[in-house]
Amino acid sequence: MVKTILITGGAGFIGSHVIRLFVNKYPDYLIVNLDKLTYAGNLQNLTDIESRPNYKFIKGDILDTELLKSIFEQFNFDGVIHLAAESHVDRSITNPLEFIHTNVVGTANLLNIAKQSWSKDFSNKLFYHISTDEVFGSLGKEGFFTETTSYDPRSPYSASKASSDHLVRAYFHTYKMPTIISNCSNNYGPNQFPEKLIPLAINNIKNNRPIPVYGKGENVRDWLFVIDHAIAIDLLFHNALPGETYNIGGDNEWTNLDLIEMLCSIMDSKLNRKEGTSSKLITFVTDRAGHDLRYAIDFSKINQAYKWKPSVDFKKGLELTVKWYLENEKWLEQIVTGQYQLYYNDQYNDR
Ligand code: NAD
Ligand code: TYD
Repeated sequence: MVKTILITGGAGFIGSHVIRLFVNKYPDYLIVNLDKLTYAGNLQNLTDIESRPNYKFIKGDILDTELLKSIFEQFNFDGVIHLAAESHVDRSITNPLEFIHTNVVGTANLLNIAKQSWSKDFSNKLFYHISTDEVFGSLGKEGFFTETTSYDPRSPYSASKASSDHLVRAYFHTYKMPTIISNCSNNYGPNQFPEKLIPLAINNIKNNRPIPVYGKGENVRDWLFVIDHAIAIDLLFHNALPGETYNIGGDNEWTNLDLIEMLCSIMDSKLNRKEGTSSKLITFVTDRAGHDLRYAIDFSKINQAYKWKPSVDFKKGLELTVKWYLENEKWLEQIVTGQYQLYYNDQYNDR
């Protein structure tokens, strides 16, 4: 094998798309997926590549120091792409400590074991940390986040991601460990866990259930198709300079209400419902505590350096996403029965 790469969180939404891209594109790399399989991790996301000779899955926790030591020894990784995290803002409001354990201590543990294992020779090694635009805080109606925008996280999730970003930067400056970070806007696409806005709304519309829109639906997010994110990760992993950080975004800002209305219209057409049927399900509910108003990304750095830009038109991407969820009923049904019901009742019953 030319390279052996550790990808953490590869059974999750974005991680599974990154794993698929790398396993297919680089048959001479060994891709090792380390994932704890929390509620968000799902090996069904990877059935098409699970028996490839250049792919290996290890069930494990980034907090497990002994396990990390042993797999770094066994595989002598050339690079790490770190996606494992608790990723949902609403859960971070209910249970912040879980986010500190996984996102902060887990990242510190992984950095530390990588440093120990690589310390004799950092040449040709890379620790790539996947982060979010939410570390920059909330924008007003104007402006964009750039790579030099000051960090101003405002939810326990974004604070934990900001903290992990700082640790990664510290390992670069203090130990000269080669690291890169990218901060991406909201992803959407197949395989996203239905706690996030788009798949949650698709599932509810399909089942004629209310679509919960927080506050007045005026908050703005910048949406990027998940495969475009995976392509950017591939580009940066192979080309970016150690110590650099990059913003990745969709140039695609929508208020939540406008987005949900477009989704309703796509669902009406896919489910052969009369136009206007699904939008009747829109229900305004109590706002999220500390709800960031707007995120928007200036991605000119990655565009100028590597010519990366989003390739999937939003309406087309949403149609593809809806099609995937409607065609993969089993995937969705397995999730929305059981634990998910308890989560849903907890989050939404009293809103
Ligand atoms: P996800 O919640 O779908 O997946 C997270 C994965 O990490 C799951 O497979 C889970 O089992 C695994 N995991 C959690 N804790 C673990 C632990 N202690 N040890 C090992 N594995 C563990 O998340 P996602 O949406 O795919 O996000 C992936 C990464 O990208 C995260 O770091 C997130 O902060 C970042 N990110 C996400 C978005 C987005 O829109 N979803 C945008 C920008 C950045
Ligand atoms: P989400 O998918 O949770 O991503 P993030 O909070 O990381 O941006 O939410 C996207 C937007 O949708 C956010 O402004 C909160 C809002 N939202 C709702 O209005 N209703 C919902 O049920 C959810 C989950 C989110």
